[in-house]
Amino acid sequence: MQPSPASDRHPSVHDHSVPTRGRPPASGREIRDQPTGGPPSRRTITRVPGRRPEPRRGRPAECEPQVLGVVDGTETADYVAHTATLRGVVRQRLVTRALVEHLPPPPARLLDIGGGNGVQALEFARRGYEVTVCEPDPGMLVEARRALADAPEVVRRRVALVEGDGREAARLVGIGWDATFCHGVIMFVPEPAPLLEVLVEVTRPGGIISVVGKNGPALALRAGLQGRWQDTTAQLGEPTPAASTGSATSTGAAGQPAVIPPGGDDPANVSAILTAAGTRPLARYGIRIFTDHLGDTPPGPDLDAVVDAEWAAGTRDPYRGIARLIHHVHCRLR
Ligand SMILES: C[S@@+](CC[C@H](N)C(=O)[O-])C[C@H]1O[C@@H](n2cnc3c(N)ncnc32)[C@H](O)[C@@H]1O
Repeated sequence: MQPSPASDRHPSVHDHSVPTRGRPPASGREIRDQPTGGPPSRRTITRVPGRRPEPRRGRPAECEPQVLGVVDGTETADYVAHTATLRGVVRQRLVTRALVEHLPPPPARLLDIGGGNGVQALEFARRGYEVTVCEPDPGMLVEARRALADAPEVVRRRVALVEGDGREAARLVGIGWDATFCHGVIMFVPEPAPLLEVLVEVTRPGGIISVVGKNGPALALRAGLQGRWQDTTAQLGEPTPAASTGSATSTGAAGQPAVIPPGGDDPANVSAILTAAGTRPLARYGIRIFTDHLGDTPPGPDLDAVVDAEWAAGTRDPYRGIARLIHHVHCRLR
């Protein structure tokens, strides 16, 4: 399993619907031919018999191979293991907790772009939602399928897995989704805007857009709390021209220089792009304030209390501003 950045991959239009037993894959054509008036139906995605998918030829410029980063300090190959650590579990539980405050009731149709090993897809399918994961990494899809195999059939039937780059989601899975998730993905694309604009495009007016990205201005906190002082100083860095990163200008407190984060790691920039694309912000949550420095510590018996403390801090300033990740929830206007 190699959950590498999307830009390492040749995106293809495979249907990786789950469960696989007795369910032949749909061809790329069926997926591409979905009418754009709404999300493709579960039946169409998961049950079209016959042809194998046809791999697409050629790639747009933005899909040229590049290694853009690691998963929040974790090598991407270890992402599945990371999701079982305290940091991973806290992140997923906080994301779920925020989303239930904003999503329409089930059975709404949710699209999870870059859904990885399917943690949120499974969570919301259990809650009665219809979830489609659009994920470019076949290894991640294998892991998602494995996780879903253990779920009750009624839950598995609510999930579809589609292989492909999120920037091509409109063509791959259609538009009109009640909510679109994109959690922990924008650090893998060279520029956040094309991906963020697609999230808005594929979501119906009034629908929810949920994005989790790094909190660039506070990234030095983890190294500092771990006592890695040289790393801390390096991450605090010297100012760089905003023009070279394409990100929003940022200024430090009390006249101190601030690091200008890459565009996708700058919460102000992410929010501005979403707003310019036709959304309004509903909420912004901080994720991992007290737990981000704990490495691969597994969850303990106090997990619920940890999540409650993180939730309380992540919903208020000044704590939210030093969180490792920022969860943006927007609503599409038109
Ligand atoms: C850190 S994992 C997050 C997985 C999941 N969203 C979660 O929160 O657990 C990042 C995922 O983004 C996917 N990804 C990277 N670039 C992408 C792109 N351009 N479109 C869609 N997914 C992408 C990776 O393959 C990987 O599965």
